[in-house]
Amino acid sequence: MERFSDDVLKRTHTCGQLRAGDIGQHVRLCGWVKSYRDHGGVVFIDLRDRYGVTQVVYDLPENADAAAQNMYALARAARNEWVLAIGGTVRSRGEDRINPKLPTGEIEILGDAIALLNRSETVPFEPDEFSKVGEELRLKYRFIDIRRPELANALVLRHRIAKAMRDTLSDEGFIEVETPFLTKSTPEGARDFLVPSRLQLGTFYALPQSPQLFKQILMVGGMDKYFQIVRCFRDEDLRADRQPEFTQLDLEMSFCTQQDVMEAVTRVMREVCKVSGKEFPENVPHMPYDEAMARYGTDRPDLRFGLELQDVGDIVSDAGFKVFSDALTAGGQVKCLVPSGGAKFTRKEIDEYTALATEFGAKGLAWCKVEAGGFAGGVAKFLSPEVQQALRERTGAQEGDILMFCADREAVVARVLGALRTRLGRDLKLYDPKSFAWCWVVDFPLVVWDEGEKRWFSVHHPFTMPKDFDPVTLQANPAAIKSKAYDLVCNGVELGGGSIRIHDMEIQRHVFELLGISEEEAHEKFDFLMTALKFGAPPHGGLALGLDRIVMMMAGGESLRDVIAFPKTQRGTCPLTNAPGPVDERQLSELDIRVITPPTKA
Ligand code: AMO
Ligand code: AMP
Repeated sequence: MERFSDDVLKRTHTCGQLRAGDIGQHVRLCGWVKSYRDHGGVVFIDLRDRYGVTQVVYDLPENADAAAQNMYALARAARNEWVLAIGGTVRSRGEDRINPKLPTGEIEILGDAIALLNRSETVPFEPDEFSKVGEELRLKYRFIDIRRPELANALVLRHRIAKAMRDTLSDEGFIEVETPFLTKSTPEGARDFLVPSRLQLGTFYALPQSPQLFKQILMVGGMDKYFQIVRCFRDEDLRADRQPEFTQLDLEMSFCTQQDVMEAVTRVMREVCKVSGKEFPENVPHMPYDEAMARYGTDRPDLRFGLELQDVGDIVSDAGFKVFSDALTAGGQVKCLVPSGGAKFTRKEIDEYTALATEFGAKGLAWCKVEAGGFAGGVAKFLSPEVQQALRERTGAQEGDILMFCADREAVVARVLGALRTRLGRDLKLYDPKSFAWCWVVDFPLVVWDEGEKRWFSVHHPFTMPKDFDPVTLQANPAAIKSKAYDLVCNGVELGGGSIRIHDMEIQRHVFELLGISEEEAHEKFDFLMTALKFGAPPHGGLALGLDRIVMMMAGGESLRDVIAFPKTQRGTCPLTNAPGPVDERQLSELDIRVITPPTKA
């Protein structure tokens, strides 16, 4: 073990702090060796901590005494990621050696003391070389990855954002209340993570998919304004913007309108953007769900660019192209995208876009290019000059553009062209990746019909208040009923979602009936909420923001794993801890659980 006196731990500064104004000061720093250079007689060490990097120089004067020689020998011996405490005097690097890339680049420290606090084995990868190694390795050695400034800064930003959220809401009288993790199933509709109970053998807790029901109970309990920065658990298939455990800023208010909730969230987001150094618009546009679906093919439109879906069904209905007319006769739609300059797409590129369309459920992707003499290629031969002219007028297509059509049921057309639009926006660089475009999507339908299960499902959750509740319409034309639900969307990502809740048991019964949830089932699943609603539930509503997604967006990251200290892989594993793993027989027998199929080795 290295010996050092506790005094050396008394840092005067961090490794990111010293500037030209500090020249002449005697300082002490602690940190990790980022890199070292031995120039024979002079050793340079770049010392790193989470605040930055400072260059330390040790030189060996000709008449050095034994102590100076020891110090120099230790400086020479230091290797990457060793932990050092150093002392020395700040001096100028000299005009020609200033490193403008480093905030501390004007100065260096002439070392007069060094203590070895710990050695490091050769690391599996240098933090600076993270891009050369696989993510699995970075997650396994996460402590090294966290030394990387990008990741460290993302965690600092995450803290600042969470603090801004807490402070803003606290200042407005919101109270942070914790809710249980060992609980029953909540209504978000993903798969639950289950935890077996030892004291009640054969029964299971579900980890909460959100604190939804508890926050409603808190409103019935008169808490008035609640929030919580809280972990939620959903056993879903993972994607770049989905983790099995993720964090929400969850909030709920009593005696509020939809507008009140949206304004509270706007104030929070304004502060979040401020601490992230981003602009938040004065007014966030509201877009009805129907409009978002029609124009962008999705309920989370990316408004950084145009390239809207254009309905051309009326123009092509009699064009004599069976693909189009069949879809229309079957009650579907024909819509197209007209990416500007798309006539330059090669056959291979068009095939790739077609593959994307098919992946999202299209039967094909009809296309044609606009050339000087008329439409060319693809389905051009099916489109008469009159139809071509009408298409040009409707869509504004110019020479050099391409038209890409999808003909299908409304939902398929939206899904396919929505996905294609996102892809084209990125491929054609239709927006500045650093820009932000916010919107509120409002007026969601209350329910959606599931063809597979032949029943209605809630679009948000079963406790969402219908807009203009009317039991007759609810019965006769459920699809026409809108709800008091709203999503906050930025750059095509859903950052938050919420709703005004049903506080009236009468309305709740009608909605359950429509959803095919029997009274018994409702009681079995949500008995405590059902009961609470009968004892003076105030009108209430709220919303939850996805903290991880917000930090990802503010940090400019590509994946939630860039902003979570200890994330899971796409396969739901944690390479650091090796979770999930088998458990020993005794633990299983205490729970009265037997694993029938032993886990197969990955
Ligand atoms: P919802 O299910 O829309 O609403 O979730 C709210 C927000 O949480 C984020 N989010 C996720 N982030 C990372 N990984 C995931 N797997 C994940 N799932 C959701 C999204 C989303 O907008 N109880 C309701 C809120 C309410 O009605 O008040 C709820 O949970 O950013
Ligand atoms: P086909 O007549 O089936 O060879 O299709 C002619 C073109 O229309 C091809 O480019 C197909 O990819 C495309 N296509 C087929 N079905 C659809 C559809 N439902 N929507 C859009 N394009 C389609």
